Amino acid sequence: MSETTTMLDVSGLGHRYGGAHGHVAIDDLTFQVRTGELACIVGPSGCGKSTLLRAISGLISASTGEVRLHGDPVRGVPSDLAVVFQDYSRSLFPWLSVRSNVEFPLRSRGLSKAERRARADEVLEWVGLSAAARKYPWQLSGGMQQRVSIARALACRPALLLMDEPFASVDAQTRFELEDLLLRVRKQFDSTVLLVTHDIDESIYLADRVLVLSKSPASIVADLEVDLGEDRDQITTRESDTFIHLRSEVARLLEVRTGTPAAVES
Ligand SMILES: Nc1ncnc2c1ncn2[C@@H]1O[C@H](COP(=O)(O)OP(=O)(O)OP(=O)(O)O)[C@@H](O)[C@H]1O
Ligand SMILES: [Mg+2]
Repeated sequence: MSETTTMLDVSGLGHRYGGAHGHVAIDDLTFQVRTGELACIVGPSGCGKSTLLRAISGLISASTGEVRLHGDPVRGVPSDLAVVFQDYSRSLFPWLSVRSNVEFPLRSRGLSKAERRARADEVLEWVGLSAAARKYPWQLSGGMQQRVSIARALACRPALLLMDEPFASVDAQTRFELEDLLLRVRKQFDSTVLLVTHDIDESIYLADRVLVLSKSPASIVADLEVDLGEDRDQITTRESDTFIHLRSEVARLLEVRTGTPAAVES
């Protein structure tokens, strides 16, 4: 993609839970995400990744710093931003069908019933769930439920898609499938994505750029371009010299900063 506009501008972002003497979860984070980019943030467990995403999405009001989404300061949850959470089982409504779950956030966006239905059907097709539209979330596997969450987020056609360890709760095979699904849909929808994970391999496989976070309170210790091209493959990409080199680099950065062996899963 040739655009170089900034979609997300995070500057001096810090958050302390529980007042002046509380816990500092993130500290002075500054970074940008370009329009059309898929950026991954990798950091150790508990370092403040979810706090960061909550602050970006306006779900919590950060103690310091500022977040701008295509130039506008974020105050409250912006309507052109969608979040996919780690825990799909708690993020879908069990009493609504798959299609109704996907349509749900569109209700507040002034779309007619027919438009909502058309959008839901389009994104469900994209995530390969057309046949499950009338089912309920609890009738689906974990991987399918997470695909519903992704479809629901995409249905809103968000300017920015935030993903908080979206594939952490599924088995390794499903994880690979969902990673590839994300790469396909971001191409199709020309999405800008910020995804956080504690899995080094996943961050490199998916990203155009990897930001490495320190342990709590999180700060950015490296900002690495991932030169793996657009077409990635779970086997050959992961075997490539570039991939292996980046994986070692990120692992070293995490180990040095946290004093513990870095999490390399799957
Ligand atoms: N609501 C809260 N009140 C007080 N402290 C909190 C709150 N939420 C998170 N924390 C603390 O802030 C720190 C960062 O938490 P956060 O959930 O952002 O980390 P994380 O990197 O997402 O962790 P994980 O990898 O386990 O998902 C942790 O020490 C956590 O205990
Ligand atoms: Mg988290």
